[in-house]
Amino acid sequence: MFEKLPTRVKIVEVGPRDGLQNEPNLVETDDKIRLIQALAEAGLSHIEVTSFVSPKWIPQLKDASEVAAGLAKLKLNGVTTSCLVPNLKGYERFKESKLDELALFMSATESHSKKNINKSVEEALATLKEVADVAKADGFRIRVYLSVVFECPYEGRVDSQQVLKVTEKLVAMGVDEVSLGDTIGAATPKDVFKMVEDVSRYVDKQKLALHFHDTRGTALANVVAGLEAGVTIFDASLGGLGGCPYAPGAAGNLATEDLVYMMHGLGVETGINLDKLVDAGALAQKLLDKPLPGRYLKAALAVRDKANATSNVC
Ligand code: HMG
Ligand code: MG
Repeated sequence: MFEKLPTRVKIVEVGPRDGLQNEPNLVETDDKIRLIQALAEAGLSHIEVTSFVSPKWIPQLKDASEVAAGLAKLKLNGVTTSCLVPNLKGYERFKESKLDELALFMSATESHSKKNINKSVEEALATLKEVADVAKADGFRIRVYLSVVFECPYEGRVDSQQVLKVTEKLVAMGVDEVSLGDTIGAATPKDVFKMVEDVSRYVDKQKLALHFHDTRGTALANVVAGLEAGVTIFDASLGGLGGCPYAPGAAGNLATEDLVYMMHGLGVETGINLDKLVDAGALAQKLLDKPLPGRYLKAALAVRDKANATSNVC
């Protein structure tokens, strides 16, 4: 067991976007920038920093351009910044932003697609192609999120052939990476292994990423199944922040610290400093004024609290 693990994985931090889009309280622009800076200092090399979607739908990220402008001034070394783009209007905002990469998104099922972006799957593919064509011509790298690939909150289990059909169309458009999303956190390891095997029969495994939510506690086990199946790109969110506003019950992304802790235990390099990641998690808790669900974060902060209490006594 664990003989085929890669030596290194790429972790895509989605907290500032996937996490904050779901928070009832708005975080100030400067605080978002501080948080992204803390993530960069922890060694996160790929950070999805915001979203150029409609501010009416996602008011939490209405300051996307300001966040991007603040980051441009900071010039974070060795960090690839990306953001979500839903359409050409979002693409124009992205282009002005000077962020590095864009991430398009769509759903594997009709019902989730309607709820999330008010379009059918075919309409979503058409919009996506419009943006992908322009972005490719401009020389940008493109990631696409494909949501609800294992289970849809409205349609139930999703067939891998349906996922394959959409993924093939995306790759044919020239997208560089497709992140397969377990948006409601319903997959188990066997599902993940089978999905990767089925999809990678026709799509290069190097182009696949996995995006797990920990709603039912299976996210880390699913990562191991993904690793075993040959995937080397995983999404995660600081402290387990996030969900999906249009997927009821989609509580919590896989926490970045939990993922990093497990990877290091498996001997897989991430380039991330766990201690500094905990600092970033502590900052996020402070900014949101609430504890985050990430388990490693909780444990590490409890140890720090105890150490501080003991040193006070002495
Ligand atoms: P729409 O309302 O269907 O389309 O929005 P519209 O074209 O009629 O636009 C309505 C208004 O939005 C108009 O303004 C547009 O100008 C404006 P008005 O004329 O009423 O003043 N608008 C925009 N403004 C700024 N930037 C834009 C933009 N586009 C339109 N880019 C749209 C269509 C897709 C834009 C809208 O439905 C939307 O933004 N939805 C938000 C979707 C979203 O962000 N969902 C969450 C992200 S997906 C996710 O979290 C899953 C993921 O994590 C993976 C996983 O877990 O599975 C990625
Ligand atoms: Mg998500």
